[in-house]
Amino acid sequence: MKTIAICGSQRENGNTEFFMRVVLDELANKGMETEFVSLRGKTILPCRGCYQCLSAGHCTIEDDFAEVFDKMRTADGILIGSPVYVARPTALMSALLERATFSGRAAGQPLAGKVGGPVTVARRTGQAFASAELLLWFFINDIVVPGSMYWNVGVAGARGAFDAETDAEGIEIMKRYAVNMERVMTALEKHGGQAESADRDKLFFQPAKA
Ligand SMILES: Cc1cc2nc3c(=O)[nH]c(=O)nc-3n(C[C@H](O)[C@H](O)[C@H](O)COP(=O)(O)O)c2cc1C
Repeated sequence: MKTIAICGSQRENGNTEFFMRVVLDELANKGMETEFVSLRGKTILPCRGCYQCLSAGHCTIEDDFAEVFDKMRTADGILIGSPVYVARPTALMSALLERATFSGRAAGQPLAGKVGGPVTVARRTGQAFASAELLLWFFINDIVVPGSMYWNVGVAGARGAFDAETDAEGIEIMKRYAVNMERVMTALEKHGGQAESADRDKLFFQPAKA
């Protein structure tokens, strides 16, 4: 089984990456395949609301979205991490998630039944809003979200510092989250893996009444 961690920070070796790698390292210690995917330097435009994905079965905007979405489709676990920017995930991450949701529906919801969760990092505050926003994304995409001993948040980055390693509590939260993630993924695998998405898409994309 494979878990990917998609990081919405533009900063190389940043604080969000640090916490996400704590989760990945724990999963790797348990024998799981892992991959860190940075959105840094990638072009992922916001959804333009063209609805072409409904007929094409995929997003028709030509940028780096497809490459990242392919990794999401083929992973068993998906971690979504973002620094908190004005009490929200970054714009780059939001663009990825809105397109993954909509074109994902058009493609038969390949994310359904996977396991995942958010990681947010802030200098001081706003994690609850950013984390809740990411949770809403997991829930609407039919992804199973395990818990930890606290919310998956890290505190780091005053005046741009790269100091995530000083947040001992945050590190323990991430380790505990990895334990639960691996347990849930293993349990679901024993029960036949991902759920069928079958008819849900028809319900979501019912044609408007004339
Ligand atoms: C545009 C911008 C907005 C930010 N907004 C917040 C905020 O709302 N709350 C907060 O506590 N920190 C805020 N920060 C600080 C970052 O969340 C913090 O430095 C974080 O550790 C950066 O993570 P990274 O190294 O993964 O990019 C902001 C930073 C930037 C550049």
